[in-house]
Amino acid sequence: MEKNITIDTLMNEALSDPIQELALSVLEGLSTKPKGLPSKLFYDDKGSELFKQIMALKEYYPTRCEAEILETHGGTIANYLKSEEFNLIELGCGDGAKTIILLKHLLKTSDNFHFVPLDISKAAVEFLISNLKKEFGHIPFDVKGLVAEYFHGVKWLTQHDSEKNLVLFLGSNIGNFSNPAAKRFLRHLWHSLNDGDFVLVGFDLKKDLDILYNAYNDKKGITKEFNFNVLDRVNALLGGNFKRENFQHQGLYDVKSGAMESYLISRTKHTVTISELGKEFYFKPWEAIHMEYSYKYLESDIQDIASSTGFEILENFKDSKGYFVDSLWRVKK
Ligand code: AVI
Repeated sequence: MEKNITIDTLMNEALSDPIQELALSVLEGLSTKPKGLPSKLFYDDKGSELFKQIMALKEYYPTRCEAEILETHGGTIANYLKSEEFNLIELGCGDGAKTIILLKHLLKTSDNFHFVPLDISKAAVEFLISNLKKEFGHIPFDVKGLVAEYFHGVKWLTQHDSEKNLVLFLGSNIGNFSNPAAKRFLRHLWHSLNDGDFVLVGFDLKKDLDILYNAYNDKKGITKEFNFNVLDRVNALLGGNFKRENFQHQGLYDVKSGAMESYLISRTKHTVTISELGKEFYFKPWEAIHMEYSYKYLESDIQDIASSTGFEILENFKDSKGYFVDSLWRVKK
């Protein structure tokens, strides 16, 4: 029988005008000291396309490590769910290349699940669905794509709380949250799940600093482009006049926070005008805009995060280099 394939776009209810939301976060970020822009601004359709290119870079190891983990341990993960009907919700699905590896393992034991891929970029959800069609021909399970932010995924779960769930939060997306924000988000997720539901979370481990540095400062300059795209976006949508040549991109490891952090650093003293905000922002020479945190973890950090948010770790699956962990958790209520 033909399966049901849909895509829904969910708006932020508090602020249903995305331009106004963008304007407020840019105003806030450029008015504070040090300056910063929220990393969710990376992911318009162009940014999602650039992130796909980052994932294919030889320096950006997390994607290959996680693909290896899912290839090797997908069968073990599938065994936890076999014989049950369940929802497979993926928060921040991207192009789904890694998820397809897991889907193939799941299909060996059952096709009794509904796949709910969620991403902030509509192009990413559409691309994932076209990938599923390429991979499976007739997709053998229902797909309900959601174009939305993570918290909508959590809300979707609360509306399906009588069902069994496996939530995927892969690719070290958790690493883009600060530690308190990660715990807050996971606790919120915990509330929306039932006792015995599963969550698979990807964590990038602490490692040799050269490996980290190269992953966030690639030779082709795609990560730089990914950062500059945020400035282009502010120019296009809010009437800004950021000039790329006034900024240098740099990814740096902060030993105190344990995160790779991305910056756009002003090469010179200059002023940027954003007409939609009716404001000018002054940059001192070498003043930085903080763009992103990518936290790196120890296994003991993963244990702390899981137990303090109500989850029990079932298994930690590592790649052969020991760079990355997909941690399988069970909800304890
Ligand atoms: C999406 N996120 C997990 C990526 C990361 O590694 O923090 C985003 C990224 N930024 C630069 N390269 C990749």
